[in-house]
Amino acid sequence: MSYDIAVIPGDGIGNEVVDATESLMIDLAASHDVEIQTTQFDWGSERYLEEGALMPEDGLDTLEEFDSILLGAVGHPEVPDHVTLRNLRLPITKGFNQHICKRPSYLFEGVQSPLRGYSGGDIDLVVYRQNTEGEYADVGGREHQGFSNEVAVQSAVYTREGTEAIVRAAFEAATERRGKLTNITKSNAQAYGMVFWDEVVQEISEEYPNVTVERLLVDAGSMDFVRRPDEFDVVVASNLFGDILTDIGGIISGSLGIAPSTNINPSGEYPSMFEPVHGSAFDIMGEGIANPVGMLLSMSLMFEHLDEDELAETLWNGVAEQLADSDAPRTPDIGGNATTLDVAGDLEERLLQ
Ligand code: NAI
Ligand code: MG
Repeated sequence: MSYDIAVIPGDGIGNEVVDATESLMIDLAASHDVEIQTTQFDWGSERYLEEGALMPEDGLDTLEEFDSILLGAVGHPEVPDHVTLRNLRLPITKGFNQHICKRPSYLFEGVQSPLRGYSGGDIDLVVYRQNTEGEYADVGGREHQGFSNEVAVQSAVYTREGTEAIVRAAFEAATERRGKLTNITKSNAQAYGMVFWDEVVQEISEEYPNVTVERLLVDAGSMDFVRRPDEFDVVVASNLFGDILTDIGGIISGSLGIAPSTNINPSGEYPSMFEPVHGSAFDIMGEGIANPVGMLLSMSLMFEHLDEDELAETLWNGVAEQLADSDAPRTPDIGGNATTLDVAGDLEERLLQ
């Protein structure tokens, strides 16, 4: 098999984790008789600062030709965050209808959770986040700027199609996993969109009698990610809540730096995109100490999506074994003092020799 992969390293540690892992991904695939051709795009904030746009106008047409997309992260101290997000990542996820965002949180053996009393495998949950609408819909506006009657309106959008699709994907996952689905909303306060969402969950639950459904409001749900993370199996949530919950899921599993993410276009009409959960990390960028594990696990999820299951498992298990080995290099966020390149280099030795 052979795949063309578009690689957008982006900004800050996005570049660092991509640079450290790209050749490992290609070489590992080659060792399994899978050919990977990558094309790098220097899209991101530097381009914006020089040319006024994060990506070219026909960027999506270019990306459409690829089998998958890998993204590092975007975000720059000199560019407002809403500019970076809304001019690169969101146009891709929305333009390619990547409406399913699947984000596993797993506490690996050898990694310490900041929560007391949990060890390897105790936290094993996956969040299904609606990825193209909800609170991130581009619906709203501002008026009367600078006057006392200045107003800002930001609307959330929930379509039946989008809501049913994410809920169904979550039920399917629960069926394959431990048979439990937690629906996290805020339907006490948001009585239109989120009550509608709850109704869709209720309707679809009837198709899955073997899945136990639990319902939580997002404030209590966030608390329970900290209080009893071991009790979650599959979680389904809106775009914003899924975003927030998966940063919590990352840190309770040891570090945001190990959390992978997927942006899936289930029909296959467009390429899907894979990226770590984290951003460009202004506080550590340039230091060479970003954890590359989130990127590596995202590559594993890309292989899984491409039906290269053996490759996906080899990479995932390789990372797990490296994390479990107390002598292996690890980055400072998980208690070590190694660099991004040390970790990737060590993994390369483990997997390719
Ligand atoms: P962030 O995810 O970049 O960083 C949050 C914290 O986690 C920081 O303390 C950082 O050092 C740590 N961290 C993140 N990844 C790490 C890794 N691989 N290894 C070790 N530590 C890691 O979130 P923040 O600071 O809110 O955002 C920074 C910029 O990134 C902003 O411009 C934001 O808009 C952007 N961003 C972009 C995303 C994307 O491109 N998909 C996702 C999230 C944020
Ligand atoms: Mg996020």
